[in-house]
Order: sequence, then C-alpha cells, then structure tokens
Amino acid sequence: MSAVGTEGTPRRLRAGVVGFGWAGRQHMDAYVQHPDVELVAIAGLEDGPRRELGALYGIDAAGQFRGYQEMIADAGLDVISVATPTALHAPIAVAALDAGVHVLSEKPLAESAEKAASMVAAAHANDRVLDVSFNHRRRGDVKALKRLVDDGLLGDVYYAKAGWLRRSGIPGLGTWFTQRSLAGGGPLMDIGVHMLDMALHLMGEPRAEAVSAATYAEFGPRGRGGSSGAAQGARADGTGAYEVEDLSTAFVRLSGGATLLLEASWASYVERDQLYLVLYGSEGGAVLGSPDVWNEPQLRVLTDVHGIAAELMPLLPKDGLHAEAVDDFVAKVQQADRSGLHGDELLSRSVIVDAAYRSAEQHREVVIEPY
Ligand SMILES: NC(=O)c1ccc[n+]([C@@H]2O[C@H](COP(=O)([O-])OP(=O)(O)OC[C@H]3O[C@@H](n4cnc5c(N)ncnc54)[C@H](O)[C@@H]3O)[C@@H](O)[C@H]2O)c1
Repeated sequence: MSAVGTEGTPRRLRAGVVGFGWAGRQHMDAYVQHPDVELVAIAGLEDGPRRELGALYGIDAAGQFRGYQEMIADAGLDVISVATPTALHAPIAVAALDAGVHVLSEKPLAESAEKAASMVAAAHANDRVLDVSFNHRRRGDVKALKRLVDDGLLGDVYYAKAGWLRRSGIPGLGTWFTQRSLAGGGPLMDIGVHMLDMALHLMGEPRAEAVSAATYAEFGPRGRGGSSGAAQGARADGTGAYEVEDLSTAFVRLSGGATLLLEASWASYVERDQLYLVLYGSEGGAVLGSPDVWNEPQLRVLTDVHGIAAELMPLLPKDGLHAEAVDDFVAKVQQADRSGLHGDELLSRSVIVDAAYRSAEQHREVVIEPY
C-alpha cells in the first residue's frame, strides 16, 4: 500500500486494533490522537463494546469486525495493534505481517520464545515493523534515568534489582489470564516482563546468558488473591482453573558479568503493592519507584558530589505511556530504512521469561543459547 496520497501529500496510515479490553482502548485512543494515522477498523468478540467503540471513534459498520482474519483481509490496513489474550499475539501478528501490515503487539510478545521468534521471523521475511507497546519504559522516571545512564553518570551498571509485587491483584481469577494455554504464565509473563524490559532497556540491552528461577502458586489455586480482594472459587465448567504461578523470582546472568534479580507477584503477603527498580553502577546508583505512593514515578540518583555522598532527585519529564509507545511505533513505520525494526531486541524478553519457567520447573539454572 503506497504511503503517498493522490495529491502527493503523505497519506495517513490506516490503523486497526484487535481487542476491546483496557489495553486495546489505549491503542485506539492513541491512534485517533495521532495526526498521521486514521483509525479505520476494530475487531473483537463482544458485540456491545464493538458497537460502542465504533460509535465513540467514528468507525462505521464496515470497519467493525468480529474476527481479526476478516479485518486483516478487508480493512486495507497499514498498521495493526494486537491487544488480545497473549496466545493470540503470534497468530494475529504473523497473519498481519504476511499481509504486509506493520504490527504493534501488546506485551508480552508471545507466550513462548518459539512463538515470539516466529513473529520476528515474519517481520524480517516481509520487511515490516514489529514492535511491542512497553508503556512502562515511557514513564517519566525511566526516561530520565535512561538519559543519565546513557550519559555515563552511573558508570558501568553491573547489578540491578527489579520487581512488581501485588498483595492481592490476580487479574481476573479464572479468566484467560490464569489459564496457561492462553496466558503462557502468571505475574512473570504479565507484569514481571515490564520490569524485565525496563531493566534491560536501562542497562543497554545486555544479552542473557543464564537464568535461575522459582515460581509459587499459593493463592490462586485456593481462589484467593483476586484483584477484587474477594475469595473466588474455580467454576464448574473448568474455566476457573488456576494454572499459572502467583509469585516468581529469577536471577539472570547477563553478558559482561552483570546480573539482574527480578521478582513479580500477583498475590503475596507483601506489606504494600510496589513497583521498583534499583541500579548499582561503578560511579553511581539509582532507585526508581515511590516507597509511599503506589506506582507514582519517582527517582533518586545516588552519587558523590565533591567527594560527599549525595542523593539527587531529578525533575521528571511527563509520562508518555501508551500514547508514546504508539507514537514511537508510527515513527518507525514512517522510516525508509527498517533495519533493526523487526523486533529482534524484544525477543530477549521472551527468551528470558521462557528460560525462567524452564528453570523453575527443573529446579536448576538454565543456560540460554545465543538468540
Ligand atoms: N501494557 C499494559 O499495561 C497492559 C495492560 C493490560 C493488558 N495488557 C496486555 O493486553 C492484552 C489484552 O489484555 P486485556 O486486559 O485488554 O484483555 P481483555 O480480556 O480485556 O480483552 C481481550 C480482547 O481480545 C478479544 N479477542 C479474543 N479473541 C479474539 C479473536 N479471535 N479475534 C478478535 N478478538 C479477539 C476479546 O474479544 C477482547 O475484546 C494482553 O496481552 C495483556 O497482556 C497490557
């Protein structure tokens, strides 16, 4: 599809979004606000939300689809966002890439390293952009810290700790989130992957060499730990089955001798919900995350000023979140040279998560082959 309109002016990119949940709506909001994009199609299984979202975003019946296959075949898309249960990311992305459509997937890339690799291969084969909307790396504190790390303020970052822990936050006990075949895993796959992305991004994309991990399922199988706080039982039709972990911990060996300690829980006896990331460098350190206010961006940089130990509290740029992830994706699509834009860097997240689950299952460190 040509990117130039009949008048010689750049034509707006035609965008479609699959998925009507919270995530899909973030993408729809971002596309309609982008001057170079026209949101022309949406797809999802629920009839009510399809009509409501169609009306909200001015998409007529011809642009409203139930299945993603029809949308890819009929909507004349340039770009697509995939915001469905995780096990559908790979089939939808590969179908879209094979049809010449650039893909922005929700996190995680896929439920396994193998599926994630098939998406990257399809992006290469069709020379299309494959990106993931890691909205948390667009937080103001992460963006400020990234600049400071890249400018060398922390020296060599050799150790990092990152975690996202919830007291009672299993998303949708008994829904696709807690079924292995659809979600691929529990909090490590869901929220741990955000922390993994932030850590690797800040550390300059070191390669992973080995992982040692453990997982636990103490709350979900007993119908406890749901986001509502209320106890919920497994349903008689089996859809309530709790098949994933509710806490995971992993120690990742990275290239150059650096290491990362990663933890994620949907439910645990933690004193308060928290999201944190700590970097230890040869010339300075950093603590990201608010100790008092849940999820509020905050950053302290530990350094020496004229030989005196000091803490800096940088003023933070605005959070970018999903809107910025979509803007970055659109900018990549608009680039003439697509080298480096086929998702190779993002594959590391799936490779590490995959190895962590294998390590937990086998009770030993798993060596990661070059990827
Ligand atoms: N980046 C973030 O902060 C963030 C937050 C929440 C969820 N997510 C990710 O977004 C994705 C979706 O999560 P959610 O909470 O919005 O899920 P959800 O369950 O609320 O919505 C899933 C949507 O997928 C649609 N769907 C399922 N099968 C389909 C098919 N065959 N064809 C077309 N549509 C289909 C459903 O109809 C539904 O509208 C997941 O991968 C999740 O990990 C990311």
